[in-house]
Parts: sequence; C-alpha cells; structure tokens
Amino acid sequence: MSDRIVSPSSLEQVVRTAWSSLADAANPSAPRSRFTMLSLATIGIDGGPRMRTVVLRGVDETAGAVVFYTDARSTKLAEIARDNRVALLACDSGAGIQIRLEGRAIVSLNDSVTKAHWDTARERSLIVYRTPLAPGVAIDSPEQGYVAMNEAHAPFDGYEHFSVVTVSVQAIDWLDLSPRGHERAVFRRDADAWKGQWIAP
Ligand SMILES: Cc1cc2nc3c(=O)[nH]c(=O)nc-3n(C[C@H](O)[C@H](O)[C@H](O)COP(=O)(O)O)c2cc1C
Repeated sequence: MSDRIVSPSSLEQVVRTAWSSLADAANPSAPRSRFTMLSLATIGIDGGPRMRTVVLRGVDETAGAVVFYTDARSTKLAEIARDNRVALLACDSGAGIQIRLEGRAIVSLNDSVTKAHWDTARERSLIVYRTPLAPGVAIDSPEQGYVAMNEAHAPFDGYEHFSVVTVSVQAIDWLDLSPRGHERAVFRRDADAWKGQWIAP
C-alpha cells in the first residue's frame, strides 16, 4: 500500500521542474545548488567509459541544451571529437533527486559563442585557461601547474584554450526518491517537445 501524502506530479510538471532546477543551478547569482556540479561521461578513445566533474554554465530550456566550459586541449574534447555522445548526471542527495541527461556535444572554439561566454564569465572561471600546460601533461611538481590568480595578464590570455561545450539533450531520466513519494519518469526529445513516460523507480 502507498503511503503517499501528496498527489502525484504530472509528466509536464516533472520535465518543467527538471529544466528549472538546472537553470537555477547554472545561475551564479542564485542560491547554491547541488546540480551545479555535473558528472560528465564520454566514450574514451579506447572505447571504455570516462567520467569527470564539470560546472554547469548555461541552460537553454527551449533548445533543450546545457553548457559547460572546458580546455580545448583536454582529453574529453578528443573523445567528443571521435564520438560526441555524452551523458550528464546531476544529483541532489539531500533532496533525493537525480537527473540524468543524454545527448550530443557540440564544441565551440574561437567563435561568437566562446566570445560571448568569455566576455561575461567571472575572472576566476577563466584563470585555468591561461596555463601553457595542456591538461594531463607530466610535470615535476604540483607548483608547475598552478596558475596564480593575481598575476598580470591581458584580457584575452588563455582564450585560445577556452572552449564552450553545448550538449543538445535528447533524453532525460528523472528520479525523485524524496519522502513525498518515489517517482521516476523518462523523456525523449521529439520535434522540439518532450515525450514523457512514467517508469518504475
Ligand atoms: C569541483 C570541480 C569542478 C570542475 N569543473 C570543471 C569544468 O567545468 N570543466 C572542465 O573541463 N573540468 C572541470 N573540472 C576538472 C575535471 O573534472 C577533469 O579533471 C578535467 O577536466 C580533465 O578531464 P579530462 O582529462 O577527462 O578531459 C572540475 C573538477 C572539479 C573537482
């Protein structure tokens, strides 16, 4: 027997909540969200799974897209160049909500998209791109890889290493394990709309 104390959500509400939660998480002025740090999965060059954390930097609900920044020299971009299927995982363990996204990654480099983000991003989000060292190269000590925050630099230093990755989301898997009642729904992008289906958690 169910101990549900509130009425169930509609699929429409669920997909809207998923997008608005992600939009809040991408907004640096909004209260801290556990959905800001996403796990990004790619297909490794050897065909094996690869995962890492990325910061959610933008959400476009209408386009069904999410954005993160990365170093143009990073391994993940080589993987995406070979196979652009990616998955993203967002989890708020306190609220009991997990959002899984699947889609195709589109990489922007030195174009109007990167320029718009570079001009509006906070300085501390861009500092990492100033390092001459490609991510993953061997160094003799950790200090060599450190980019000083207050070192003098020109406004475009590092821009050539800066890439914006837009993930065009094709599928969403929403899981709510909060005490209000366990709910799981999957959505597929179909002609610019989301087709949802309840499934067993
Ligand atoms: C809290 C946190 C946030 C991170 N955010 C990003 C990010 O937004 N973009 C990024 O490329 N790497 C980010 N990283 C580093 C990645 O997790 C990863 O170590 C790095 O990008 C190299 O990954 P790759 O070798 O698979 O390309 C972050 C790491 C941590 C711990």
